[in-house]
Amino acid sequence: MRTVRSIRTMQNVCREATARGKRIGLVPTMGFLHEGHLSLVRRARKLSDLVVVTIFINPAQFAPNEDLKKYPRDERGDLRKIRDAGGDVVFIPKREDIYPDDYETYVTVEKLTTALEGASRPTHFRGVTTIVAKLFNITRPDVAVFGMKDYQQAIVLRQMTKDLGYPVKFVVAPTVREADGLAMSSRNKYFTPSQRTEARCLFFALRTAREMVKAGIADCRKIEKEMRAAIKATYPTAGIDYIAFTEFSTLRPVQEIRKDTIVSLAVKVHGVRLIDNMKLL
Ligand code: PAF
Repeated sequence: MRTVRSIRTMQNVCREATARGKRIGLVPTMGFLHEGHLSLVRRARKLSDLVVVTIFINPAQFAPNEDLKKYPRDERGDLRKIRDAGGDVVFIPKREDIYPDDYETYVTVEKLTTALEGASRPTHFRGVTTIVAKLFNITRPDVAVFGMKDYQQAIVLRQMTKDLGYPVKFVVAPTVREADGLAMSSRNKYFTPSQRTEARCLFFALRTAREMVKAGIADCRKIEKEMRAAIKATYPTAGIDYIAFTEFSTLRPVQEIRKDTIVSLAVKVHGVRLIDNMKLL
């Protein structure tokens, strides 16, 4: 496995691979990898010949009050994990090469970014689409793999891929959960063991929703009420940012559960904002 830090070298490695007829699979990450990321690497391994994993803590997607400075890092551990999961190249660009001081071009998906996460984090998706467009331009992948845990991110990036005409097969892989249901996230590292127990409130809420739908309840207002109760029962001081029932591809709000309904939520647990989601039918 090779580690590349220069943009020019990364472009050359990918161009040469493409010229030799190899399919390039891209897995963009911000590092501090867990099983969720590694499932994306394994998926890319199955779908391509050269698996490129990128590690870049993208300042453009953090608001000034967010956790950019303390975002967890572990480059040595990441390299070992990526190698074991079947990565071929790890691209770790420098911040000043991606965003030089005179940088001023951003990619924006207009409507899909206004709901859910976008409502609470107005500049977040602009940063995500910009960095992923730049990584697509550098690596020219045939396949790119993203995780379903960041559901809205996946929908927004899929739209960008289509709108800008990138010839990239866009793959969204399922959320990987801990044995107790907590969705894997690099931010789980911020919790003490007892706080981590309370972080399960998101999964408990989703499980409540799933059980109600299984029992034939389709009214989103009723389900939301019980989800709120499930969260408070596990973590009484939880700050619930939103619980939203939307149409899967458009993010339009729905009142009744249908086949394409997804429920998403964002909850602040001991100062850490967690997100999760689940298809209900
Ligand atoms: O999902 C993430 O870790 C990031 O948003 C991504 C896609 C790597 C862009 O920085």
